[in-house]
Amino acid sequence: MMNDNWDLKGKKALVTGGTKGIGLAICQMFLEKGAEVFMVSRTLTDLESLIKKHNNLYGISIDVSQKDAPEKIIKALPSHWQSLEILVNNVGTNIRKATLDYSEEEYDFLMQTNLASCFRLTKECHSLLKSSGGASVVNISSVAGINHIKTGSIYGMTKAAINQFSKNLAVEWAKDNIRVNAVAPWYINTPLAQTAFKKRGYLDAVLERTPLGRIGEPKEIAALVTFLCMDVAGFITGQCIAADGGFSVNSFN
Ligand SMILES: NC(=O)c1ccc[n+]([C@@H]2O[C@H](COP(=O)([O-])OP(=O)(O)OC[C@H]3O[C@@H](n4cnc5c(N)ncnc54)[C@H](OP(=O)(O)O)[C@@H]3O)[C@@H](O)[C@H]2O)c1
Repeated sequence: MMNDNWDLKGKKALVTGGTKGIGLAICQMFLEKGAEVFMVSRTLTDLESLIKKHNNLYGISIDVSQKDAPEKIIKALPSHWQSLEILVNNVGTNIRKATLDYSEEEYDFLMQTNLASCFRLTKECHSLLKSSGGASVVNISSVAGINHIKTGSIYGMTKAAINQFSKNLAVEWAKDNIRVNAVAPWYINTPLAQTAFKKRGYLDAVLERTPLGRIGEPKEIAALVTFLCMDVAGFITGQCIAADGGFSVNSFN
């Protein structure tokens, strides 16, 4: 019988990039809703200070763009985790440039960090996800994967690929009772977004094109991700859901 409670009690969640911004808000909401959480990020001191503050929170300091990261992450999971109910691929970064100005190194860096890391870790988690008997994978995409926005083409390419990856996997892994969805935010108040707002006039231009007239808060993305990971969302798979203040439906204003 379906658990129709709006909680994550008894679930074990792996979240990449959990120490700041959207990832941190997701981890906090997961903990509030009763999940155990394992977070991954590079800065050890950030991880340690968060783990100290919360019961049921674990983590590892690792760069997810490294090829052997998935294997190391799985090995570091708590020994009592014999299955995984939730995987959130949240790490993503950007270098904003005109397409003609990108170097090969920058292309590889963004592809490995934003896309290959998600592909590899998700594959590596398959047997643990399947063992849970009902799992949810959420990939953090962007409205830049749906339309052109001024992020640079490589970021847009990685996010569009994440959307399609989510659709393919939703169909392939449905037989294993693993749901796969993508969430596409527009600007959210995080350290990553603050770098874009340093450019004078940029925030005003963003607000002008956003029907709700503001940027989003990390917990507004966390709320959608948390819902997608609950059993009550059990019929939703293969979707890319925008949380964007109406930006992506606003063609002309
Ligand atoms: N903020 C927005 O406006 C916005 C809009 C659309 C989509 N998104 C997407 O949302 C996701 C989160 O963005 P955010 O704004 O919250 O980012 P953020 O503020 O830069 O936080 C990124 C998190 O990921 C970790 N991280 C970064 N690179 C990593 C790596 N290679 N290996 C392991 N951990 C890594 C960071 O910790 P360390 O630095 O310690 O590793 C941090 O915990 C990204 O996929 C982004 O593309 C954001």
